[in-house]
Amino acid sequence: MSHSISNNEQLKAAIDTLRKEKNAVILAHYYQEGEIQDIADFVGDSLALAQWASKTDADIIVMCGVHFMGETAKILCPAKKVLVPDLEAGCSLADSCPAEDFAAFTRLHPDHTVLSYVNTTAAVKAYTDVVVTSTNARQIVESFPADTKLIFGPDRNLGNYINSVTGRSMLLWDGACHIHEQFSLEKILELKKKNPEAEIITHPECKQPVIAVSDFVGSTAALLKHTVNSDAKEFIVATESGVIHEMQKQSPDKHFIPAPPEDNTCACNECNFMRLNTLEKLYFCLKDETPEIEVDEAISEKAVKPILKMLEISEQLGL
Ligand code: 13P
Repeated sequence: MSHSISNNEQLKAAIDTLRKEKNAVILAHYYQEGEIQDIADFVGDSLALAQWASKTDADIIVMCGVHFMGETAKILCPAKKVLVPDLEAGCSLADSCPAEDFAAFTRLHPDHTVLSYVNTTAAVKAYTDVVVTSTNARQIVESFPADTKLIFGPDRNLGNYINSVTGRSMLLWDGACHIHEQFSLEKILELKKKNPEAEIITHPECKQPVIAVSDFVGSTAALLKHTVNSDAKEFIVATESGVIHEMQKQSPDKHFIPAPPEDNTCACNECNFMRLNTLEKLYFCLKDETPEIEVDEAISEKAVKPILKMLEISEQLGL
């Protein structure tokens, strides 16, 4: 394949040829650029990406998402090559929970079961009993008897939200996602005033005051499904704006307004880490089979257990 690929159409054709030649599958999160979502074999939320990775018979998985998503795929498929177009694609939430500090926190509460959000490093998952995502967190929490003592990390907003809807009092790690935390309540309310028919739909990683004014709260996949099923024609979308690409595709007659962040640099809220992946980097990553995700074997052997537990419970719940 020539290196002088100069436009997107050529890049897409080259990516397509390479994925067939190499028996590679391209998985993309909803927060990726639209052109990456369009070329992917599968687009989904964190849970769906893990489910796909666990089932694929491809030799190579290209995870167009952030580092922890690639790690989860690698832990589930240690014999496969797992590539991420840009290894710098990290996650502020995962960064807010250093493994040794989290382990010390869990040691202070040895009678607690440890639930960790999938947005964590493999090392944190190794100290975890069950991994959850925003799609299954509530149901997994509710699958434990009401008197079970639970630790939930690292997202304090999601943890507080789950506590409020389940009546539990899980101990929470004090972490957050820099994108979901920075939505401006004031600007969302201004938008609602201008668009009174619009529903405010919100990811549970957002702060409580934003959640409190929302018509619907759910994971990325749940928000998408809601926009299809709702009678509303307009939505103010308080999550990473990449998902609007798929919302618009599934409901071409509806209008989606990205909720703005507090700073004034941009009208929508994009994750700078997610957006590091580009079509060009995807092409080179497939061609050169690098950068590759590596996970320490001892950590992987421990981390796989809570991930498999999550997949097993999700399957039982029909998620
Ligand atoms: P989802 O579980 O909705 O895919 O959330 C992923 C994520 O990274 C949110 O910050």
